Amino acid sequence: MKSNKRANLRFDSKAVYIPHDPATHSISPPLVMSSSFQYDADIYQRVVDGERKDVNIYGRCGNPTEYQFEEQMMVIEGADACLATASGMAAISVTLFGLLKSGDHIVCDWTTYSSTHELLDHRLTDYNIETTFVDTANPDSVRAAIKPNTKIIYFEAIANPNMKVAAIPPLVEMAHEKNIILICDNTFASPYVVRPLEWGVDIVVESATKFIGGHSDAIGGAICMKSELLPDDFLEQIRWSTMVKLGAPLSPFNAWLLLRGIQTLGVRLERQCKTAAVLAKHFESHEAVNRVWYPGLESHPQHDIATAQMPSYGGMLTFEVDDADAALAVLDNLELSSFAASLGGVRTTTQIPASMAFLDVPEEQRREMNIADGMIRVSCGLENAEDLIQDFDAALALL
Ligand SMILES: Cc1ncc(COP(=O)(O)O)c(C=O)c1O
Repeated sequence: MKSNKRANLRFDSKAVYIPHDPATHSISPPLVMSSSFQYDADIYQRVVDGERKDVNIYGRCGNPTEYQFEEQMMVIEGADACLATASGMAAISVTLFGLLKSGDHIVCDWTTYSSTHELLDHRLTDYNIETTFVDTANPDSVRAAIKPNTKIIYFEAIANPNMKVAAIPPLVEMAHEKNIILICDNTFASPYVVRPLEWGVDIVVESATKFIGGHSDAIGGAICMKSELLPDDFLEQIRWSTMVKLGAPLSPFNAWLLLRGIQTLGVRLERQCKTAAVLAKHFESHEAVNRVWYPGLESHPQHDIATAQMPSYGGMLTFEVDDADAALAVLDNLELSSFAASLGGVRTTTQIPASMAFLDVPEEQRREMNIADGMIRVSCGLENAEDLIQDFDAALALL
């Protein structure tokens, strides 16, 4: 297909269409399981002359299956460039280490995935990189936190786990006015729900482990870029300066699994978003549930912003029961849904953020993040919504 035609396809067609392999004519992407690649005099000279991605050198520097995953991620995120990584956290740390120097400052939302928060709050401080945590849904607090040395504003499209949705346009305006790079983690939403680069965000980081792969069988990550502030080859620069040095490439087998996952992203998310909306409405009127957080509910504090930015609202939701013991009793008595870490798979998974993913985040910081001890996070899978409701109701009835 001519590339200009591909660019005009709608999301589902873009996700499923992968050009055939010119060497074998296979319409399914080939899996290249090789950690090393044969040189000849010509390749040798090209590498010596500085060519990198166009020649295969060594698995840690890149691999043809990984490049095909990068190509497909670019297409579905609307990016000009993509760099695949070993995990979502590798995407985040490679981006941050690639961009930042000692003395730089970050403005970040209070609520991000726990490991991201800990990296900013504990680890980057060792390198003299400070972060000010704010509520990015409140543009005034972001503006007040910006300093002359602020290099990055960082937020999640839908925040894990409190489902906050910050308006993107004011963040873009504030960042670009001061040449600050705006980074968005799109893991919780997925590019089916929102494509932050189309709204002016510079870099999207993503755990492909979740909705992109969609089957809970592969860990991977991606950095996608469309930016007027950064050089066009920025991701290629950090592939060499940072990703290769940190040793965080995506494995070819995982790239192949994730590529397979991308092709069904549209149909999966369509169902997952519908199911999340049904469950959210159900929990909202359930007597054992104190509060439901889902951007599609009118009760959600940023419902109007979400409606403007992501009208399908995503496949994740959270709800609160009285306390951690009650949350544990519910999850331990689910039969259809899994009580398990991670999200975005075809099976519904549930967890207690305060005492699982955010266990190492101090209690007062969890309060700032709006994470109650009795909060339950639900990642909707492909089960029938009525069966899920019966499963949750049976467990909630035990409280
Ligand atoms: C929002 C978000 N970002 C990043 C990550 C990290 O992804 P990975 O586990 O692939 O490193 C996660 C993991 O749960 C996440 O929820």
